[in-house]
Amino acid sequence: MYSAMGTFVVLIALMTSTVTVCSVSRRFVNVQDFKECAKDNLHPHAYKYIESVFTRGQTHDENIDAFKTFRLRPRHLRDVSHIDTSTTVQGQAVDIPIGISPSAFHKWFHPEGVIGTASGAAAKNALMILSEVTGTPLEEVDRAVPHGHRWMQAYMVKPRSDMLRHIRRVEAAGYKAIVLTIDEVALRRITYSNFEYPASFDYVNVPRPVIGGSVGDVENQIDTVTWDDVDWLKNVTRLPIILKGILTPEDAELAVRHGVDGVYVSNHGGRTLDGTTATINALWDVVRAVRGRCEIYLDGGIRNGRDVYTALALGAQAVFIGRPAIYGLATNGSQGVQDVLDILTNELESTMALTGVTRVCDISPSYVVKQSYYENQFPSNRFSAKFFG
Ligand SMILES: Cc1cc2nc3c(=O)[nH]c(=O)nc-3n(C[C@H](O)[C@H](O)[C@H](O)COP(=O)(O)O)c2cc1C
Ligand SMILES: *[C@@H]1O[C@H](CO)[C@@H](O)[C@H](O)[C@H]1NC(C)=O
Ligand SMILES: *[C@@H]1O[C@H](CO)[C@@H](O)[C@H](O)[C@H]1NC(C)=O
Repeated sequence: MYSAMGTFVVLIALMTSTVTVCSVSRRFVNVQDFKECAKDNLHPHAYKYIESVFTRGQTHDENIDAFKTFRLRPRHLRDVSHIDTSTTVQGQAVDIPIGISPSAFHKWFHPEGVIGTASGAAAKNALMILSEVTGTPLEEVDRAVPHGHRWMQAYMVKPRSDMLRHIRRVEAAGYKAIVLTIDEVALRRITYSNFEYPASFDYVNVPRPVIGGSVGDVENQIDTVTWDDVDWLKNVTRLPIILKGILTPEDAELAVRHGVDGVYVSNHGGRTLDGTTATINALWDVVRAVRGRCEIYLDGGIRNGRDVYTALALGAQAVFIGRPAIYGLATNGSQGVQDVLDILTNELESTMALTGVTRVCDISPSYVVKQSYYENQFPSNRFSAKFFG
């Protein structure tokens, strides 16, 4: 049934991307280069959708800027001739601690769509989380990229019988975990923000698929999710359950008590509630609340390898990238996604080597500190009367 849906033409009126206009002379050195190329390549509505933020966009900006308030504490004179970036996530071995966050409408950004993203991730042996707001059936993604590590993102829908059918479908297609997004209350968001959406889309991976529908058809399906639903989910599937959108130690503690397998610190890239703290600032409290009882992940504002390093140092098992992966996809399909992951990996490796760490599991809190720590070491005014009086 679902593979038949895949043969439907994806009806996105605006989806007439991608003459790669910036590919010839431009050099791609960092994530920002891919962002600029994506902007050149994409229809303004598609680009605007990627960059969308809730209300003032403060949380979006602070996600990025907060990484710059940390400082590295390098340790030297160690043998760093071999750097190993491999790690595990829910017991799966991956080559890099950088995965791809779930994001919607990839066919709007490149004709390869989410299969391009999946194969870019698989080429790096990296984890990808498939968004349920995608136009390629989740089974088809699995068939096209059978060797990829993939988890499935889900929103809660009622009745639970529909949700259960969906979970069985995800299990049957071989996805290795369910990432339940808990920070979105759909009707609240679309009322107050100015997102651009495709006029019509095949929503084939939501619990109640809609072909040629509008975003409202799907957002109306998203139900309020409570801890009861988390208990229910844990009860109906053996797949690991990860809660995406945790920002407080209180919710992290509850998550552990409700038996979840992963706490995913996220504020949806600043696209839902504006005014929360940057995710990197929320991480430390969550790590202390969880005390090693489950894995912790983070996304939001990761734009270079040093950001990855900072999050790992503060206790994330792995990080995820949302917009950077899309910039790569919009630049050059699967290859672009791979290139973005390569750049972040190279930057992470250099940061590890230059701080004297050779394995991901050795990147500990002692390697980072808040900039304010240094400010507190000195009198606030060094030229005060105290010195010269
Ligand atoms: C274009 C776009 C679409 C997104 N769609 C989804 C989605 O369908 N489900 C979801 O849980 N999160 C979605 N997100 C949020 C991302 O999973 C992630 O939390 C966020 O992008 C991380 O911030 P970053 O973009 O700074 O890396 C989306 C983000 C973007 C940019
Ligand atoms: C895009 O990817 C192709 C391989 O798929 C490669 O030959 C080409 O150089 C890439 N272009 C850019 C701009 O990186
Ligand atoms: C878990 O499943 C069992 C058996 O299906 C059922 O009796 C029980 O009520 C369920 N618990 C929850 C919290 O859904």
